[in-house]
Amino acid sequence: MLLDKDAMPLVAMDFMNATHYEDVMIINKLYDALEAYEKLQNEENAKSVSDNFTEWFEHTIGHFQAEEVMMREKNFPPYPMHKGEHDRALHEMDAVFRHWNKTRDAAALKEYLTRSLAPWLLHHIQTMDTVTASFFKTGMSPCSAH
Ligand SMILES: [Fe+2]
Ligand SMILES: [Fe+2]
Repeated sequence: MLLDKDAMPLVAMDFMNATHYEDVMIINKLYDALEAYEKLQNEENAKSVSDNFTEWFEHTIGHFQAEEVMMREKNFPPYPMHKGEHDRALHEMDAVFRHWNKTRDAAALKEYLTRSLAPWLLHHIQTMDTVTASFFKTGMSPCSAH
């Protein structure tokens, strides 16, 4: 287990919290699969890492899109900033997955998940998602004083 699902920060919109919860469950499955592969580097364990990564990638596309659709619908002013962070994170996930598929470098994947992804996800939820969810709920822009 990499992330504690009960210790994740909550935002003001339930649909976002539900997606983040699913996200954490998939990331933990991927992390467990990676640890199994580290112990026994066979084909079956490598495939399990790849399958879980694919599931996580597809889930993340939906996760980000759902937030982006609502930001556009509600004319969220800092939309480009939030969308830019999503695009950067997806791009990085894609690069890491390509590297994994080419090399099956368990140490590199573990380094990314623990040192980059986990802190990024927590930070993203605590900052951009939190501000965005309160805007969805109250209609108040975080960028204006009124
Ligand atoms: Fe999110
Ligand atoms: Fe987000």
